[in-house]
Formats: sequence, C-alpha cells, structure tokens
Amino acid sequence: MSLVPFSQACENNKSPILEVIIKVFSTSKCVLEIGTGTGQHAVHFAQALPHIIWQTSDQACYIDGIKAQLDHTYSSRTLAATSISNIENPLILDVTQTWPLGGMQEKIDGVFTANTLHIMAKEMVNAFFIGVGEHLQSGGNLCIYGPFNYDGNYTSDSNARFDTWLAQQDPRSAIRDIEWINKLAKEQGLKLIKDHPMPANNRLLHFIKVSG
Ligand SMILES: C[S@@+](CC[C@H](N)C(=O)[O-])C[C@H]1O[C@@H](n2cnc3c(N)ncnc32)[C@H](O)[C@@H]1O
Repeated sequence: MSLVPFSQACENNKSPILEVIIKVFSTSKCVLEIGTGTGQHAVHFAQALPHIIWQTSDQACYIDGIKAQLDHTYSSRTLAATSISNIENPLILDVTQTWPLGGMQEKIDGVFTANTLHIMAKEMVNAFFIGVGEHLQSGGNLCIYGPFNYDGNYTSDSNARFDTWLAQQDPRSAIRDIEWINKLAKEQGLKLIKDHPMPANNRLLHFIKVSG
C-alpha cells in the first residue's frame, strides 16, 4: 500500500485558492483536475464544493499516491461525517496523450490545475491548452494556479531563485511568460477573465471558454 503523500505548499495554498475557485465554480457540475499530485487540493476543494464532481487525474506514477490520499480521507473519522462522495478516482492522464475521459466527455464544465505549467516542458504546456480547448464545454471555466513572469520579468527574487532551481531539476521546466500562456489560451477560444494575485508571488488565472 502506498504512503499518503503530503505537500506543505498545498497545505499553505489550499485555502487562498479555494477562496477564488468557490466563486468561479459556483455553478459548475464537473471539474477535471490536471496534475492532481498529492490529492490534498482535490480533497479540500471537493468537500467545499459538494455540488461538483471533482475528477482527479495525473501521470501514472502519481496514481497510487492519490488513491492512498483518497482512501485515507474516506477512512478518517473526522471526515467520515462529511460527504466527499464527489471525488472521482484518478484517471491516468498525460496531457500529451489522448485524454481518457470516457463517459465524462461532454460533461466537463471546469478545469483546474495547480503548479503544473512550470513543471511541464513547453510542448506539454501546448498540449495542455489543446486538450482544454478540445474537452472544456463552451462557457466552462479554467483555473490555473502557479507562478508566472510578466514582460519577461520575474515578479520576485524568490521566483527567480525558484526558476534556477527548476532548471537544475529539469532544463525543460521553467516559469512561463503570462503573454505566451494568454496566446495559447486565446488560440483555444479561452478568454482571460481575471488574473488574481495570490500569496507567495503566485497567481490564479481564470479563463472562460467563449468559443469553439
Ligand atoms: C509540482 S507538481 C504539482 C502537483 C499539485 N497540483 C500541487 O499543486 O501540489 C506537478 C504536477 O504536474 C504533473 N505533470 C507534469 N507533466 C505532466 C503531463 N505531461 N501530463 C499531466 N500532468 C503532468 C505532475 O505529474 C505533477 O502532478
């Protein structure tokens, strides 16, 4: 059995993120999370948004950890009383492959992702937007949380240091330029509604699919 994964960053950012997405996804029915990671966000958000089916997904190597997180949550006495029947077991979803959405196809009216676009190589970021363009319903919401650069500049010294660290882990990873993200989004019929400033020099980008 896998250990329950834990990220301190998720614990720190889950409440500020929820403050924004609880409004954005207030009338959504089915949200697909890309790069679920530890599953901490999914558990926190699905409990606060009981009207939504929260579909977790990630690359194959993360699936056992996410399942362990969900099992842990279901078996926890504190949470047993709370309905979390709205979290779906993780799909193996690599954005560069066919998105295996099965019966969910046509139902996705929200997409959420946190801290993924700076980890993904450029071609993966491109594939992410093509996938969102293909699968998000017209009128649906896309929320992207993470650090971004503006006019080619870091927004803080800590983000600059983080980018250096990212490059040491994988030279294909990097903090992305907001202008490039906006361009990819526009090409998929996504309009930027609001760029929310978030703690620790992060942003939450809210797009709506207006066409396509
Ligand atoms: C830094 S972790 C973030 C995890 C979690 N969302 C969080 O905020 O803690 C980066 C995530 O991006 C995912 N990721 C990277 N490349 C991906 C790809 N090609 N397709 C889908 N997910 C990918 C990783 O599997 C991982 O879950």
